[in-house]
Amino acid sequence: MNILLLGAGGREHALAWKIAQSPLTSALFIAPGNAGTALCGTNVAVNPTDFEAVKNLCVSNGIDMVIVGPEEPLVKGIYDFFAADADLKTIPVIGPSGEAAMLEGSKAFAKRFMNRHNIPTAGYKEFDNENYTEGVSYLTEHSLPIVLKADGLAAGKGVIIAQNHVEAMAEFELMLQQAKFGDAGKKVVVEEFLRGVELSVFVLTDGKDYLILPEAKDYKKIGIGDTGLNTGGMGAVSPVPFADELFMKKVKERIIEPTIKGLQQDQLDYKGFVFIGLISVDNEPYVIEYNCRLGDPETEVVLPRIKNDLVEIFDAVAKTKLKDIKLEIDERAAATVMAVSGGYPGNYETGFEIDGLDVLNEDDVLVFHAGTTVDGEKILTKGGRVLTVTAYGAGIPEAVRRALKILEFISFEGMYYRKDIGFEFKHGEEN
Ligand code: AMP
Ligand code: GLY
Repeated sequence: MNILLLGAGGREHALAWKIAQSPLTSALFIAPGNAGTALCGTNVAVNPTDFEAVKNLCVSNGIDMVIVGPEEPLVKGIYDFFAADADLKTIPVIGPSGEAAMLEGSKAFAKRFMNRHNIPTAGYKEFDNENYTEGVSYLTEHSLPIVLKADGLAAGKGVIIAQNHVEAMAEFELMLQQAKFGDAGKKVVVEEFLRGVELSVFVLTDGKDYLILPEAKDYKKIGIGDTGLNTGGMGAVSPVPFADELFMKKVKERIIEPTIKGLQQDQLDYKGFVFIGLISVDNEPYVIEYNCRLGDPETEVVLPRIKNDLVEIFDAVAKTKLKDIKLEIDERAAATVMAVSGGYPGNYETGFEIDGLDVLNEDDVLVFHAGTTVDGEKILTKGGRVLTVTAYGAGIPEAVRRALKILEFISFEGMYYRKDIGFEFKHGEEN
């Protein structure tokens, strides 16, 4: 099979690494890819949201299947573009239709979906400039803290947790009247604050059946002990110790099954990953958000724990035969630690040479590139999140320790990483 993978981050390097291992893969193209994906296939300088360019790429390379990494092409309707095009309609796209991708593309759409299908989530109300004054009085009465969410895609920045009413009111005004998040903030979801611990659950569906992939927890803050600014993700671990059998049973019965049934009832075409951001409040799961793709850096711990041939799984999704697949999970824990550019998530420079990538001699340690590029013989930094090191261990502490050991050999100017990924899971564990 000739496969085209869209995207350029650590998630896509992990996908490319797994796809390249499959005997079903004859050729793998990655658009646009990074220096890491170039080790697994052929990078092509095509923007995944330029659908005409993606089409040309598919036609000229005889592509048999398209895997979509990031949300933007999905929300913009790449699935529908393929389905409606005479030359492309026989090529399966792994990802939801544009309408179904609204589960990520619109917070209000996702909240209405959850309410309609009785899926546990925080109580909420939606506001825009039409009911602005009603929103102001709603906020005045609201218990603290107050969660305000820009309705549309805001590159992970659209959620504000206001600690007092003055701040909430100011943010509300900024979003609705001053267009702080542009069109994404034309509508605002105001929701109750849930106190608990978060985790991510990944489901792959063919529209009929589904597989539950290993769960993961990511670390979004830049600083030690989960402090400082939000980032795209500084590391992740899998499995998540508090997601025990009983908790996962609740997740399956109350959240995953109603979600998959809900997609069917609402006639939303969905052949792809559903990323469910959950919060456990006193061991009861609530949905914080849906995403229509895999998480980054969660993918860098989730895929290494899946033993199956990923292309065989994707083929089953395309053919609506997922019920024939039995997932085999590696019992070991996996941890990934992200190395970022100095200054990230604020301003940072790129173009620095990365040293030490060739010293890697442990075959169960994986380096996934995120923001990197090839320049002749050199590999240079090209983004905020540069690369992530994934290691296995008997438990999370051992996996983290092994990833950190490898990071000591890798360097680039300004490199920074958190040394405390998985910190809350150290207590009482031998490994
Ligand atoms: P989202 O973009 O929806 O994932 O929100 C970003 C982050 O905000 C989440 O990962 C949570 O840490 C936090 N968050 C969002 N909604 C809530 C909520 N209702 N209660 C508590 N924290 C929340
Ligand atoms: N790690 C969170 C995300 O991919 O959205």
